Amino acid sequence: MHTTVGIIGAGPSGLLLARLLHQAGIDSVVLESRDRSYVERRQRAGILEQATVDALRAAGAGARLDAEGLPHDGIELRHDGRATRIDFPALTGGRRVWVYAQTEVVKDLVALQLAEGGPLHFKAEVTAVEGADTDRPRVHYRHEGREKTLTCDYVVGCDGYHGVTRHAVPESERRTFERTYPYSWLGILAEAPPAYDELIYAHSERGFALASMRSPSVSRLYLQVPNGTDPADWPDERVWDELDARLALTADPGRRLIRGPVTQKSVLPMRSSVTEPMRHGRVFLAGDAAHIVPPTGAKGLNLAAADVIVLARAFAHHAKTGSTELLDGYSDTCLRRVWRAEHFSYAMTTTLHTDPAQSPFDTRLQQSQLDRIATSPHAAAELAENYTGLPLDV
Ligand code: FAD
Ligand code: DHB
Repeated sequence: MHTTVGIIGAGPSGLLLARLLHQAGIDSVVLESRDRSYVERRQRAGILEQATVDALRAAGAGARLDAEGLPHDGIELRHDGRATRIDFPALTGGRRVWVYAQTEVVKDLVALQLAEGGPLHFKAEVTAVEGADTDRPRVHYRHEGREKTLTCDYVVGCDGYHGVTRHAVPESERRTFERTYPYSWLGILAEAPPAYDELIYAHSERGFALASMRSPSVSRLYLQVPNGTDPADWPDERVWDELDARLALTADPGRRLIRGPVTQKSVLPMRSSVTEPMRHGRVFLAGDAAHIVPPTGAKGLNLAAADVIVLARAFAHHAKTGSTELLDGYSDTCLRRVWRAEHFSYAMTTTLHTDPAQSPFDTRLQQSQLDRIATSPHAAAELAENYTGLPLDV
């Protein structure tokens, strides 16, 4: 089998790329190792930037997002028992974000691809990508109990942090920059209405907490926990009690979250990682395959979308004009944005979490930074601009 663009992975980046290429009249084949239901149920991101929403709408995947997504005009930061609201539209010239779960983005894009797009094969595990330096790169995969090969004009690795495509870039050409963090998140999904209209990011001596949501009847909540934590050590009542303790306000100490049945509980380690370059020969990397961020700034899915928007434009430009200029610039264009998001995610994470080895000096620095955001419109605007997403720069 041969295709113009072989796409590895049917997460948000692979699916959106396939859709954008389809709209540009460029054929592609998507190979995904998991089954459809696994991909559609994987509980992950919840916040979409304006640019991601605009791209999904333009891709024809905006109907349910517009009907069910929740536009948010701000977040609240809590520290030392005080609350500071960050007003996005006022600080960014009108930008906002949307609460719309990654599971729903994936469902919408899978449905579109199966109805109108090129082949999307589930349970097709890619084992190797070869020939990045040739004009016919090859993708080897297992599907329906057989070993198969897809030849392509180009290959795009949208196969996440544990994917195989990255290895098609020779080690001598590839550099990975990484940082790990001395804490994880315990995340729960609960059938309980969110107690607050907006997301709350809380710094506390007990550790970080985040109150988010999925819908008017489903809450998504996170607690900082030590690395290696077993979710079994956190019975539901302990989670709720700890969330209430970390989110407490001095002015309203009795205010509690609305509790309900916990339907999912898991522990997520945190990591920052960037692989450079994001292209070698005819093989490209996009989304988590090239970079990951700790989740505190809600950037991962949005960065993945930004990569494939840039890449789809470059493929369309090439198909129309024969010029490889935009394809050649892909890695540099994306990496500028990626490093900005890496810095923002790192800064949000280290400002809001409590490192077990943290000194009282470190804590004072965190409090000073949070005070600065609370009192300076410039500092608040810097946060708001990064949170709502920087321009695509293309
Ligand atoms: P993935 O979603 O990882 O998709 C990769 C796909 O490739 C997978 O389907 C995988 O099965 C497939 N694959 C892997 N290897 C192979 C192979 N060998 N062959 C074939 N297929 C393969 N981001 C935000 O923007 N906002 C948020 O609020 C946010 N919150 C998050 C909360 C949590 C708890 C977590 C874990 C992440 C969060 N993120 C958030 C990050 C976001 O989920 C990821 O950045 C996003 O999923 C990246 O999409 P992707 O398509 O690049 O990769
Ligand atoms: C969610 C996840 C995040 O990492 C974040 O910063 C905000 C919200 C969420 O899953 O809802």
